Amino acid sequence: MSGPAKGVALSGVAKWYGKVPAVRGLDLEVAPGEMVSLLGPSGCGKTTTLRMVAGLEAPDAGEIRIGGTRANEVPPWRRNIGMVFQSYALFPHKSVAENIAYGLVMRRLPRAEVAARVADAMRQVQLQGLDERVPSQLSGGQRQRVALARALVTRPDVLLFDEPLAALDRKLRERMQVEIRQLQRAVGITTIFVTHDQDEALTLSDRIVVMEGGRIVQSGTPGEIYERPGSHFVSDFIGMMNALRATVTGRAEDGGLRVRLEPGGRELAVAGPAGMAAGDGVELMLRPEKVRLNPPAGAGLIHVGGTVAHVVYLGAVTYLHVGTPDGLVIAMLPNAGGDAAAPRQGDAVTLGWRAADMVCFAPPRDA
Ligand SMILES: Nc1ncnc2c1ncn2[C@@H]1O[C@H](COP(=O)(O)OP(=O)(O)OP(=O)(O)O)[C@@H](O)[C@H]1O
Ligand SMILES: [Mg+2]
Repeated sequence: MSGPAKGVALSGVAKWYGKVPAVRGLDLEVAPGEMVSLLGPSGCGKTTTLRMVAGLEAPDAGEIRIGGTRANEVPPWRRNIGMVFQSYALFPHKSVAENIAYGLVMRRLPRAEVAARVADAMRQVQLQGLDERVPSQLSGGQRQRVALARALVTRPDVLLFDEPLAALDRKLRERMQVEIRQLQRAVGITTIFVTHDQDEALTLSDRIVVMEGGRIVQSGTPGEIYERPGSHFVSDFIGMMNALRATVTGRAEDGGLRVRLEPGGRELAVAGPAGMAAGDGVELMLRPEKVRLNPPAGAGLIHVGGTVAHVVYLGAVTYLHVGTPDGLVIAMLPNAGGDAAAPRQGDAVTLGWRAADMVCFAPPRDA
């Protein structure tokens, strides 16, 4: 960074490709030093948003500000932004050190300073000793580290990542996620990270911005997005969920909703969104890890009896699919007791969960 960290602000930003709306009226503020992920399915406008911040695409409407200054008319090479892509985009015939130095050489920095900064960046991404290799002599993870060093070495105000880890295998991806997060924190650089991998977004972000169809549908900390999703779409995208159907029967005294589970007919009080009225259909979302197996009676839980329909053993956890009068409920059980401790298909079980762990929202449009 050339000075104190700079934030990024988008207001009313829109982009059309011919008749295709790629981004529709985006409002997004990234605070100085914050790491924000844009999360969403293929085609929701993540890359287009990133490219507009970088200046590689011009918005059709709205304003982009970097460090409080309007950037719409600023060409990409004057925005002081570092970018890392899925394809490493390295020069194949240049060495690692030459690849990393490229942006500094273009800026005509003195040779000694270039060498010092390159050595620094290589240390930051743990590439020491590989200066002379060319990209074809590196592993995928090492190539991505070169791309990262190349983005960092110019001391950008903002770092943009577009699915940089998508091509790496799972173990390496997880390690790089932690490394990128630590590095981002250490350097304190404002960062926007595009991904369609929910675990990656949860691992990396101060804040997750979920996009759908060119719009932001929810923005919050990883905990808020996971625990309190505002819609079926967000909930389903960020993790596994049980979706119980219910009908609103009225308002509870504390302002919450009274609902009746369908088809079981059980009546419950839940916290619900405003604007719901008696007769409305709603969905009650419950994460599988909130469901307990055979809990003691009277623990303030909702208890539901059922029969195990299916058991999925995953080593660290087991998923129990349980048929209940209120619909199918999946419970995630830690395997503290080992394989033998889990119930078998056909067993009768009782499940329990806290009413407060259910999140109420409108059912998905297509249901
Ligand atoms: N150069 C282009 N010309 C025409 N349409 C485009 C162009 N680039 C993107 N689009 C369209 O704009 C929409 C948003 O694309 P974008 O690349 O931003 O999505 P994305 O969220 O990055 O998806 P992915 O996860 O697949 O990378 C899509 O409908 C896409 O087909
Ligand atoms: Mg993309």
